[in-house]
Amino acid sequence: MAQVHLLLNQKGGVGKSTLTVNLAAITADVIARPDRQVPPVLAVSIDPQGSATWWADRVGDDLPFDFVQAHREPQELSRLKEIDGYEHIFVDTPGWIGPDADDDGVEDRDPLGDGRAGVALRAVLEAADDVIVPIEPEGLGFLPTANTIENVVKPRGIPYTVVINNWDPRDGTADLDETKAFIDGQQFHRAQTVVRHYKIHTRAAVENRVVTQYPRNRISLEAREDFFRLALELGLGGTRRQRKGAGRAAK
Ligand SMILES: Nc1ncnc2c1ncn2[C@@H]1O[C@H](COP(=O)(O)OP(=O)(O)O)[C@@H](O)[C@H]1O
Ligand SMILES: [Mg+2]
Repeated sequence: MAQVHLLLNQKGGVGKSTLTVNLAAITADVIARPDRQVPPVLAVSIDPQGSATWWADRVGDDLPFDFVQAHREPQELSRLKEIDGYEHIFVDTPGWIGPDADDDGVEDRDPLGDGRAGVALRAVLEAADDVIVPIEPEGLGFLPTANTIENVVKPRGIPYTVVINNWDPRDGTADLDETKAFIDGQQFHRAQTVVRHYKIHTRAAVENRVVTQYPRNRISLEAREDFFRLALELGLGGTRRQRKGAGRAAK
């Protein structure tokens, strides 16, 4: 059975889609086997805005992993793990409006809301083996990140890792240190790896590339390294031994 990794943060623009496609690319790059036609990695977008889809349309056939925009029923989304043939499934999710945003003074029963997006989110949370929570080194993202973890992830008991993304070394370390201090102060599990800001990541989304397809120059390789480090830290590249009789038969 596939491991399902959910990219989640109620705040938009923090790197959910960027991490989804690039972690999928790195993982596929490492574990793909030449004797298999089918890539071992699937990326799923449940973002109704379809930013990752927009993006995947443009990389087209060169994409090193399979990609689907899920228009599926919640029951199917919650059974993602059972899709045959994949070892890792990365799920890109949309942000959502938290309970603090509607200002009606009544705390909503469910922070994910009752709309289509909320229903889809609840379904993929059911399927998730772990959650990756990107955060930018920027104070505005602290509260939404804390809400995401405290109200959505922790109550479900899903293991999670907060990943600092889009740190520009030219800005110095003050914001980075403050962000680390915030995450550690909340006792959230934090990845050591920080994904740095590189123009090539921003450009890649319009230039039809994932990190494994970047040109082989020094800057691109540096930019790519962050994703390899992160994938290593998250344990994505290992070959799992199947328990006898469980899941697909090993061939
Ligand atoms: N490490 C990074 N370096 C440069 N640009 C980045 C980086 N991470 C994200 N971006 C850019 O920031 C914007 C928001 O990222 P995105 O992945 O779309 O966030 P989300 O899916 O959480 O809304 C995009 O334009 C993306 O290309
Ligand atoms: Mg997105």
